[in-house]
Amino acid sequence: MLKQRTGRAVNIRESLDTDKESIRQLHRNAFGETEGDAVSKLAVDLLEDRTALPLLSLVAEADDEIVGNVIFSSVTIEGADPAASAYTMAPLAVASRFQGQGLGTKLIKLGLETLKARGAAIVLVLGDPNYYSRTGFQAGHSLKPPHALRYPEAWMALELVEGALENTRGTVRCAASLSAPEYW
Ligand SMILES: CC(C)(COP(=O)(O)OP(=O)(O)OC[C@H]1O[C@@H](n2cnc3c(N)ncnc32)[C@H](O)[C@@H]1OP(=O)(O)O)[C@@H](O)C(=O)NCCC(=O)NCCS
Repeated sequence: MLKQRTGRAVNIRESLDTDKESIRQLHRNAFGETEGDAVSKLAVDLLEDRTALPLLSLVAEADDEIVGNVIFSSVTIEGADPAASAYTMAPLAVASRFQGQGLGTKLIKLGLETLKARGAAIVLVLGDPNYYSRTGFQAGHSLKPPHALRYPEAWMALELVEGALENTRGTVRCAASLSAPEYW
């Protein structure tokens, strides 16, 4: 369990169907005016997307309020032989008043541990290298993104099974709701 500075407890758990509206609101607020609508829609779409399964959605909760969320959705790697169990991590948000206290890192780490226990081998993310390199994500792997990228250095991967990245080549195909080129 994580303790916030005020002493209020923050619990992390898997999200429930009944959390969807709170998750939408969280992403809308955290990502702000320019990105909030698109990212909050993406989060809810992913939670309802059968092509994203198996999926892991974790929420951080404080006083019955959702203050953090991360979603890991399944991807396939076209051309990979042997096939590898892989996920992509998006979106991630922490409510502004809880930012900078380690909660985002905690959500990522708990997600990675949970996926590892469930047999996943690779996790991908498209995001700020300065932030995601802190939890072990690195560019320079051989997995091609589903679309051409504006910022190729932001396309990072992490292996949960030793050698998984070295042994896997191919093109990542993600859930339908994440497939729109504008997300890349
Ligand atoms: C990004 C986000 C999830 C981080 O959550 P958090 O709980 O504040 O993160 P942590 O407390 O684990 O880590 C905070 C550290 O990361 C740094 N950090 C936060 N966002 C960063 C970013 N985009 N790039 C680089 N560093 C970042 C902070 O400066 C802080 O550094 P410090 O420890 O040296 O002070 C949160 O700021 C957020 O929801 N932002 C709005 C939505 C967003 O941008 N999501 C990520 C999209 S890729």
